[in-house]
Amino acid sequence: MKRRDFIGEACKFAVLCSSPLLLSTLQSCEDVSDESIGNDDFIDINESIIEFNLNQSPFNNLKTVGGSIATQGNSFDSKGLLLFRQSESTILAFSRRCTHAGVAINAFSNGSAKCLSHGSEFNLSGVPTKGPASSKLDQYIVIIKDDIIKVSKS
Ligand code: FES
Repeated sequence: MKRRDFIGEACKFAVLCSSPLLLSTLQSCEDVSDESIGNDDFIDINESIIEFNLNQSPFNNLKTVGGSIATQGNSFDSKGLLLFRQSESTILAFSRRCTHAGVAINAFSNGSAKCLSHGSEFNLSGVPTKGPASSKLDQYIVIIKDDIIKVSKS
């Protein structure tokens, strides 16, 4: 085998061997698909406020204490929101952007929100309880007026 042919074959073999590793690395950094709520279901969305009605079916989980939903990315937060009904009078709102590498995390389940990309977990205060994330999720202000929920950044 000539030197040029040998190098060509060696390169093909190297690409074939590294492809599964490359693919799994790329997949681990993609957002995990989920059942998040689309933007058509909100009353209003802009860069500073997001508003929705609890009586619309996508938000039914938030009518029950302990319920949680995740929204798709939008103009308010490009990764979407993570919402949790803490009590009759309190709904918590966080950015879904994982503080490790920015992937959208899933809704709360059993008091914990997980990022399936590298395994970080966050508690109901938005604090990481499992790494690699080491900083708190961005949290937003929530105002509840009857069944209308307004989320703002300040
Ligand atoms: S992006 Fe790495 S743990 Fe979330």
